[in-house]
Amino acid sequence: MQEQDFIPGEYSTKIDSGRVGWESPSNIALIKYWGKKENQIPANPSLSYTLNNCKTTTLLEFQKKTTKSDNFEFDLYFEGKQKDSFKPKIQQFFERIAKYSPFLKDYTFKISTENSFPHSSGIASSASGMSALALCVMSLEQKLNPEMNPEFFNRKASFLARLGSGSACRSIEGPLIEWGKHKSLSGSNDCYGIKYEEEVAEVFKSFQDTILLVDKGQKQVSSSVGHNLMHGHPYAQARFAQAHENLDQLKTVLASGNLQDFMEIVESEALSLHTMMMSSKPYFILMKPNTLEIINKIWAYRELTKTPVCFTLDAGANVHVLYPKKDAKKVLDFIKNKLIIYCEKEQYICDRVGTGAVELNLSK
Ligand code: DP6
Repeated sequence: MQEQDFIPGEYSTKIDSGRVGWESPSNIALIKYWGKKENQIPANPSLSYTLNNCKTTTLLEFQKKTTKSDNFEFDLYFEGKQKDSFKPKIQQFFERIAKYSPFLKDYTFKISTENSFPHSSGIASSASGMSALALCVMSLEQKLNPEMNPEFFNRKASFLARLGSGSACRSIEGPLIEWGKHKSLSGSNDCYGIKYEEEVAEVFKSFQDTILLVDKGQKQVSSSVGHNLMHGHPYAQARFAQAHENLDQLKTVLASGNLQDFMEIVESEALSLHTMMMSSKPYFILMKPNTLEIINKIWAYRELTKTPVCFTLDAGANVHVLYPKKDAKKVLDFIKNKLIIYCEKEQYICDRVGTGAVELNLSK
């Protein structure tokens, strides 16, 4: 499926008002997306675990406009309160997807959204937030075109979510989602995320992710700015090639169940991502001293106990601690005894691999 396939023709049905809603999770990349081309096309492929507990719930209420107009009309509520500061991001999203969802101009909307994780926890809410909204837009499209099949629905939801935030295209389904053209993965493409359908060893199907909230403040440099700094970056081409190579290796590792190699690839990806930030022009550092304290403690614990626990990072200071389910009890003890002192207000979130977004049942 290509970009043109997402431009709709005439709709078969008319609908004046109603509401749709979705709960959509965040995701954590094992192979990182960092650097993009025009129109949210990634510079390299990425692969992520869909999370289960960190999610956004969005309700989209719609009412047909009485007089036609060429603008988007919507109000935005975050955790029950009107939040105009979020509107520009949604306005931009609607502008980007207008060509694919032209009906958006025919309605006025009330968008109500909330996150399961604490506000400003430093956890990327753009992946869960944009995917939840993209799914709501698709549910409205489905009402206009009830013949739409589920595969098309998911692909277009991922396609639209990507235009809101690249990583959001990996939050529609789970447990592992790949986005970006890669020679060894059939169906992989730059337009939308696909379910990773290769062989996956049992151990990787129930991985745990405990997110240590090292710094809950606003990031100094947004992801969008960071992606842009990959243009003209001296190491950009080597980094993109590395991501391709690491994805190839991870494919073998996911099939074999080799935890040692898994940890090496995943940690190397996290540190490569931050290396790119530190060698951009201008350069910046998103890790905090406590990020490094935690990494060192994880390495020491792993060395001492041989427990297969590793870390990854997204574009921030928080640390995602990844480990198999069977080791959950001892790793959680380790986290509570040794790591939470490095977290802001000792806060952390226990999450695990999830299966993707779920539509809200609004019939009640
Ligand atoms: C470091 O998806 O937030 O988390 O497309 O500009 O919205 P935009 O960027 P975003 O970038 C995420 C980058 C990352 C790595 C990843 O999730 O692959």
